[in-house]
Order: sequence, then C-alpha cells, then structure tokens
Amino acid sequence: MHVGIVAVILVCYHVFSVIGNVEKVIFSAPASRTAIPDESINNLLLNSLDPDNKVLRTFVNASFPTTGRPKGETTWFLLRDLNPGQRHEVRICWVATQPTAFELSVFELKHVFETPELISSLSAYAYSRHDSLSPQDLEHAAHQRDRMGEAHGTSVLFLRVQAAADYFSLNETLMRDVPPVYVDLILDPYVLNFFPQSLLPTASYVVIIAITAWLLSAYIYRVLLAVAKSDGSASPVDKKTM
Ligand SMILES: *[C@@H]1O[C@H](CO)[C@@H](O)[C@H](O)[C@H]1NC(C)=O
Repeated sequence: MHVGIVAVILVCYHVFSVIGNVEKVIFSAPASRTAIPDESINNLLLNSLDPDNKVLRTFVNASFPTTGRPKGETTWFLLRDLNPGQRHEVRICWVATQPTAFELSVFELKHVFETPELISSLSAYAYSRHDSLSPQDLEHAAHQRDRMGEAHGTSVLFLRVQAAADYFSLNETLMRDVPPVYVDLILDPYVLNFFPQSLLPTASYVVIIAITAWLLSAYIYRVLLAVAKSDGSASPVDKKTM
C-alpha cells in the first residue's frame, strides 16, 4: 500500500510537470560558500532568484540554432541564499505560442570562473545586459546590489538558460528575428530533499484521497462479504464453493 501511494504521487507529479511547457533542473545547493567576493558577482547585475523571491517573470532572448550556437542564446541568472546541501529545482515555463527548446544548467561559481568557455559566455551576457539597461534600470540594479551585498554566508549558484527557437514560419520576419520569449522561472526547494515544496498541496490531496479510498474499499469489501455470506447460506451451490 505504501508503495502504491508513492507511485500515485510520482505519477501525479509527472503529469503536473508535463502540462504546459516546462523544463527543469534539479540540484543540491553547495554545502559551503565559495571564496569569490560578493562585489564581483553583484557587479554582473544578473537577475536573481532566492527563497524569498521564488518566481521571476521575464523575457529571455532566443535564436535559431547555428553551428556556433547549437543551443541558441544564453541568459545567466543567479540563485542566491540557498540552503546549503538542500535539494532544489528550477523550472522554466513558457507559452505554447512561442515554441522554444530550453536547456537549464547550474554551475558553482568557482567552476564558472575557472572554465574559459563559461566565463566568456557569462561576461558577454553581463556586458550586453549592462548596455541594454536604461539609466533608471542601472540605478535600480545598483540599489539592489547594495542591498544584496549585506547577505553573507549563504550558498550561491549560477543558472544558465539556453534558448533555441523551435518553429518554422512562412513569415520571413519571424524566421529572421526571433522574438524574446516570455518566461516564468521558479525556484522550488524540496521538502526533506524528496519532494518539491510547491507540489505539496497537490500531493497531500492525492494522499488523502488514496487513504480514504483504501479505508472505504476495505469497508465496502467487508459489507459485500457479509452480504455474500448471508446470501450463500440460502444457496447450496454457493456453500460448496465457499
Ligand atoms: C510577421 O510577423 C511579425 C511579427 O510577429 C508581424 O508583425 C507581421 O505582421 C507578420 N507579417 C505577416 C505578413 O504576417
């Protein structure tokens, strides 16, 4: 029975994560903080997710795959204030009218800074983002950076989102310039390193239904058995088989 409940939860979990366009990455937050100073990370002005701001609604650029960029355009985010060692997942959801192939990856800071390919991608993104921000946005980002500078001793990861356009259109404009994709990014810590927090209400509901159904079925079985027995005493044929 216990196995049955777990199976039901897993099936529901997969059904719910498949509805709509969802891609995700599951990871354990690093156990400790790396030695990279806060300043250099904050100066990248990346959008970030943390346990107090679990949902980020934003646009990411996409492009058709090329040999140089088989996975399309890259966008970088920061995952901060994670609980060290805890399992988390990040999901990206987007509308079906913008067919896109997403790939999510998480990296420890140290790994990014030590891998030429990653650090050049990150710095290219940071420069282009810096250039695209208006003076007000920059001021806002600087304000946010100063506020975030106070957070110490937590675990941090980089999130890389690669987005390749995945459609064909007779409209030449759409084939030449891929419009930015409207996405929701969701950070979801796992409860007991086993189950995504946001799916807990659904899972509880399913478990309650399963337990109720089980108790009810036992009750119905007993009632039916009692009925069958009392009927059986009247019939010699049934008596023989029982
Ligand atoms: C092509 O797509 C663009 C962008 O969605 C749109 O503005 C334009 O009207 C479309 N052109 C045609 C001929 O449908």
